[in-house]
Amino acid sequence: MPRSITIQKQQVPVPGLGTYQLTGKEGERAISHAIALGYRHIDTAQFYHNEEDVGNAVNNSGVARNQLFITTKTWPTDFVKKNSISFVEQSLRKLKLDHVDLLLLHWPADENGNERGIDMLLEAYHKQYSRLIGVSNFNIPQLEKVRQKAPIFCNQIEYHPYINQREMLEYGKNNDLLLTAYTPLARGKVSKDSTIISIAEKYGKTPGQITLRWLLQQKNVCPIPKGGSEKHLLENLQVFDFQIQNEDMEIISDINSH
Ligand SMILES: NC(=O)c1ccc[n+]([C@@H]2O[C@H](COP(=O)([O-])OP(=O)(O)OC[C@H]3O[C@@H](n4cnc5c(N)ncnc54)[C@H](OP(=O)(O)O)[C@@H]3O)[C@@H](O)[C@H]2O)c1
Repeated sequence: MPRSITIQKQQVPVPGLGTYQLTGKEGERAISHAIALGYRHIDTAQFYHNEEDVGNAVNNSGVARNQLFITTKTWPTDFVKKNSISFVEQSLRKLKLDHVDLLLLHWPADENGNERGIDMLLEAYHKQYSRLIGVSNFNIPQLEKVRQKAPIFCNQIEYHPYINQREMLEYGKNNDLLLTAYTPLARGKVSKDSTIISIAEKYGKTPGQITLRWLLQQKNVCPIPKGGSEKHLLENLQVFDFQIQNEDMEIISDINSH
């Protein structure tokens, strides 16, 4: 059963699938397999050079387009250019889709560059190239600026137990923004963490599952773990049959203050 969270009255399936380094036929196979297992939210970017592979997996999945939530991102050196909308059109061609669900500025540029990026997002939004628009790796002052100009839905940020994002979490909650947590497993590092391992043993789950569940129990947060292997893809979906108690939530939240 796909699960979702509601942000600005929009449903976002959780968890999403990170696809960085899932490229070529092997990448396409992993993404197809993920969709067959039940993933309904796929995160790609121009920078990942796999939009064609994501497009093949999505278009051959047999899953109705409106059941899938597809995110892509435009790189700063492209969105500052005059013809930046052509990069969005290029993404759609590669994905073989007439729209994505969420289009992001991948990283902030300088202030002028961000303004150009926002113009691009708004143009894409009005042309219905994307249902929703947002940013990634923006800090709070940068977010404040762009939110004055455009209906920002999301900030995609690095978030896992080794990074303190308390202020951003508060900001996201107060402003009903989706906070997509990238690198949610700290690239597998959580599996070797003695604190997380001991909590995992208590719940009969893996450290990866504990970390994803900890993220999912925080308001507005959607983790997007990358899974190339069958074992991980499946494991990362099986995070809805248990609840982490408050005291254990706090222990994990405190890891980054050690
Ligand atoms: N916006 C940005 O600037 C930005 C930056 C970085 C990443 N991202 C996005 O975030 C996604 C996820 O981040 P990431 O790929 O950097 O790191 P990640 O998801 O934290 O970690 C992926 C690594 O962890 C392994 N793994 C997956 N599930 C596991 C589990 N249950 N237990 C233990 N290990 C597990 C994977 O192995 P296998 O592959 O072998 O399964 C892979 O080596 C990216 O793919 C990308 O879509 C966005």
